[in-house]
Amino acid sequence: MSKERTPGSFEEEKRAAGESAADLVEDGMVVGLGTGSTVAWTIRRLGRRVGEGLSIQGVATSYQSEAIAISAGIPLTTLSQHPVLDLAIDGADQIDADLNAIKGGGAAHAREKVVAYSARRFVLVSDRSKHAHCLDVAVPIEVLPFSASLARRWLADLGGAPTLRQGRMKDGPVITDNGNFVFDTDFGKITDPEGLGMRISSIPGVVEHGLFTNVDELHVADSGGVQILRRG
Ligand code: 5RP
Repeated sequence: MSKERTPGSFEEEKRAAGESAADLVEDGMVVGLGTGSTVAWTIRRLGRRVGEGLSIQGVATSYQSEAIAISAGIPLTTLSQHPVLDLAIDGADQIDADLNAIKGGGAAHAREKVVAYSARRFVLVSDRSKHAHCLDVAVPIEVLPFSASLARRWLADLGGAPTLRQGRMKDGPVITDNGNFVFDTDFGKITDPEGLGMRISSIPGVVEHGLFTNVDELHVADSGGVQILRRG
């Protein structure tokens, strides 16, 4: 990513935004559980509500969210059992003024997108630092390792500058939960996220890109509290 993730920063704001969205969840719902440090606050709050008697099921978007949900005591289910979710809640790396988002800082965006599009309502949670006028951070693009050379050339043809994401505490590239590579691809300012997303998806071997244009609602927090923005 062109912007480094800063775990530990804005923790109070992340907590406020994450917990605010947890209050949207009602008894009987099946809920998509996103990945990352902000939505982790949502999942932990939901776990406390389950402990108080709330009856829900969750669909995890990664090994990370599965582990947090299990330790929080949230019963898990699958998309095979519940193909339509009541609500999905997730974090983001950047969100523009029209609530388009870039996700995938944790390389979980492929499953996150499937879960988001399986939900009747898709809600993002973030601290204010993620909110920008225009999207301009690198777009994570998950590709089959077999197609990495082709994808690199075609992403460059689309005007992108792809960088193969490297592991930390692991030599070589990051391998996603699905066994694939990720190219963080800098396109500069993105004025047409939907159009760019369609062009990226047309590359053979691209599994999923991190442009999300289906966000219904954003819970964004700063030191003054949580603001709720809805797609206009
Ligand atoms: C994972 C994601 C995360 O939701 C995104 O990176 C935000 O993470 P955090 O809340 O830790 O900043 O898309 O693939």
